[in-house]
Amino acid sequence: MVAEAKRMQGYGSDFIKEMFAAARNPDMISFAGGAPAPELYALDAFRAASDKAFEVYGRTVMAYDGAYGIAPLREFIATQWMPRAGVNVGADDVLILSGSQQGIDYAARLYLDEGDTVIVEHPSYLGALNTFGALSANYVSVPIDADGMRMDALEDALRRHPAAKLIYTVPDFQNPTGITLAADRRRHMVELADRYDVMIVEDSPYYEIRFDGEFPPAIKSYDDCGRVIFLGSFSKTLCPGIRLGWVVADNKLIERYRVLKEATDFQAGTVAQYQAVTFLQDYSLEDHLNTSRNVYRGRRDAALAAIEEYFPSGVTYTRPSGGYFIWVEAPGINATETVVYAMNEIGVAYVPGESFYATDPRADTLRLSYSQMTEAKIDEGIQRLGRLLGELSG
Ligand SMILES: Cc1ncc(COP(=O)(O)O)c(C=O)c1O
Repeated sequence: MVAEAKRMQGYGSDFIKEMFAAARNPDMISFAGGAPAPELYALDAFRAASDKAFEVYGRTVMAYDGAYGIAPLREFIATQWMPRAGVNVGADDVLILSGSQQGIDYAARLYLDEGDTVIVEHPSYLGALNTFGALSANYVSVPIDADGMRMDALEDALRRHPAAKLIYTVPDFQNPTGITLAADRRRHMVELADRYDVMIVEDSPYYEIRFDGEFPPAIKSYDDCGRVIFLGSFSKTLCPGIRLGWVVADNKLIERYRVLKEATDFQAGTVAQYQAVTFLQDYSLEDHLNTSRNVYRGRRDAALAAIEEYFPSGVTYTRPSGGYFIWVEAPGINATETVVYAMNEIGVAYVPGESFYATDPRADTLRLSYSQMTEAKIDEGIQRLGRLLGELSG
């Protein structure tokens, strides 16, 4: 058989496949997936918007359009969406992607030669590590605390790795920890990036899933030098099946993204783009988001209350103000070894934390997602998991 290209070794494990499988099993109490609750999809409104898109735009909906994405959707993102995060740009600064995962891949292709350094959070998003790993990136991990990436540690990393090309960060309700980068650190990160000449990839699909506290400005809002590549997504707000995301960046960079888009899948689907923009123009996204926020707040509260009650002492965990994730540190437990037993014997799935580390993985960590389970299931699942962790930790 023909040997695979070496880069295939850089693609990660089968965890993503296993997470999707666990999420599909209706008997499993799954804290594994990172997707919206399906019952929250605006199904009827989206169907109506879809019909209307075909009525209004006719055959245009079914044609090629071009690599930048359709003009009304770029316009909507520039004028209606980004200003909410303090980012003022024009439609020319936006390019539509087939999901924001593609935007991470393009940033990596754009800047990373084999062995080039990318700075990531410790822990970081598994999907990004998959992408960077395939390009044989050199990782430098920077620790995070309750306010996100630590700026003293970032500066230290930049000093030690002056040729670093990228800082990759998930500033809002980070996947996997649920932690948000404090506003003052966002400004500081841009200052450091300017000083040490490095690009920032701001990957923020959960920005709008905030249910407590103030919305901080995006890192991009502090960017005067065109160093920040902002990635947005409709996956967590509208639905992931639509496979639409976007990049906001300096005009010259949008041109490079356009080249990459043409070379990989040519453009995001025209049908999906017209469906999305008609939905966004006709229905109140804010109402839809508020409904979702209330449900997720209830689930977050149920998860935290159950953890407090059922998890053994010594276990620590994050308290997110939005998004889907709680990060658990359980000293003495090997969460990777335990997950198969948990799925098979107690019917509970989670994602072992080890896979989220670019360097120095910690096996005593795990990610719990509360987005897709009812409060009753969350209580039951956490209770079962707490019992198991209690038994394992003696
Ligand atoms: C941090 C982060 N970035 C990117 C993505 C990918 O999103 P999309 O569906 O837009 O490709 C996800 C999805 O889980 C994510 O959590």
